[in-house]
Amino acid sequence: MVCAGSGGVGKTTTAAALAMGAAAEGMKVAVVTIDPARRLADALGLEELGNEPRRIDPERFAAHGIELRGELWALMLDAKRTFDELIEQLAPDTRTRDEVLSNRIYAQLSNAVAGSQEFTAIAKLYDLDASGRFDLLVLDTPPSRNALDFIDAPARLTGFFQGRAIKVFLRPAGFGGRLIGRGTGVAFGLLRRVTGVDLLEDLSVFFRALSGMIDGFVARAARVNALLSDPGTTFLIVTSPQHDPVEEAIFFHRKLRDAAMPFGGLVVNRLHLPPAVDGELPEALAERLGDALAGRVARSAHELAALAARDAANVEHLRSALGDPPLVIVPERHDDVHDVEGLAYVRAHLWGADAAAV
Ligand SMILES: Nc1ncnc2c1ncn2[C@@H]1O[C@H](COP(=O)(O)OP(=O)(O)OP(=O)(O)O)[C@@H](O)[C@H]1O
Ligand SMILES: [Mg+2]
Repeated sequence: MVCAGSGGVGKTTTAAALAMGAAAEGMKVAVVTIDPARRLADALGLEELGNEPRRIDPERFAAHGIELRGELWALMLDAKRTFDELIEQLAPDTRTRDEVLSNRIYAQLSNAVAGSQEFTAIAKLYDLDASGRFDLLVLDTPPSRNALDFIDAPARLTGFFQGRAIKVFLRPAGFGGRLIGRGTGVAFGLLRRVTGVDLLEDLSVFFRALSGMIDGFVARAARVNALLSDPGTTFLIVTSPQHDPVEEAIFFHRKLRDAAMPFGGLVVNRLHLPPAVDGELPEALAERLGDALAGRVARSAHELAALAARDAANVEHLRSALGDPPLVIVPERHDDVHDVEGLAYVRAHLWGADAAAV
């Protein structure tokens, strides 16, 4: 289950609450979180995690009256580490593996690729799926400005490996030949004398070692992509009820459909509910508050009513643009969601609780 959506709408929160809820129902669940807020990570004991899922102590939930009949495992994605693991899996032998991992160019490149996080997140999902250890995998997605970066990531990586740039490097006479003209060669030489770093040597070692792995990379990217379109995968689009995220959710939904990736439903998070009163406060209440305070409360209630009306209109627009999809609403909470109680609140709404009861 992939929780996708634009930045800051509640993807990490939704992923964690979903995973917790499914574990409570008896499933063995792993949630892959990406940069969770510090306090949420602490609440789940995520700070000690490596790049492998670890089981979260059920006592953390039991203390809040939540019984996990299944198991909840979690990890915080370490993008660089995941990329290194991929090299380890694809390298034909240990020499090549070490050559690549210790190479300076690789260090730069892997930081750049891992820095985008999208591909590594799906690569991790692929590994966990292949391990067959879990009933359900919940994937949080990176805080991309554009949720589309996520579904495009495998294709972009394939594009890189099959593209012209890398082929030029791999051409047998590439180095020192056509590509590195005399001027460039002199520049590299000067750089080596000044810095002691032999970039040209690094580059050629890197691309030679990598050349043996390209087919593996491309095949892996294809399988990762296939996992995203697998009928066993579900995309949940998470959005807040504001204009821009709603427009992005509509766009993302269309792209999912075009890419034949399975759409499961919408989570509209942080919806403002209308206040019980809009306009004149009940007389008894106004009397108790006194004129000044009653006036301020009435104005706040009026502003909240306007917000709620705007949210409701945006949700209606979203609903009709997507052709009445499965949709759940999680109202704005009085406090942010940074602990087990907050997750319990979100879970209750995801599972269809009556707003008034939570
Ligand atoms: N229903 C809610 N009510 C109040 N606060 C919420 C609610 N849902 C999420 N939040 C808060 O909103 C903030 C953003 O949530 P979250 O980190 O889950 O978003 P995100 O989509 O993962 O963001 P990013 O794109 O940066 O990764 C957090 O501080 C979280 O506690
Ligand atoms: Mg997040």
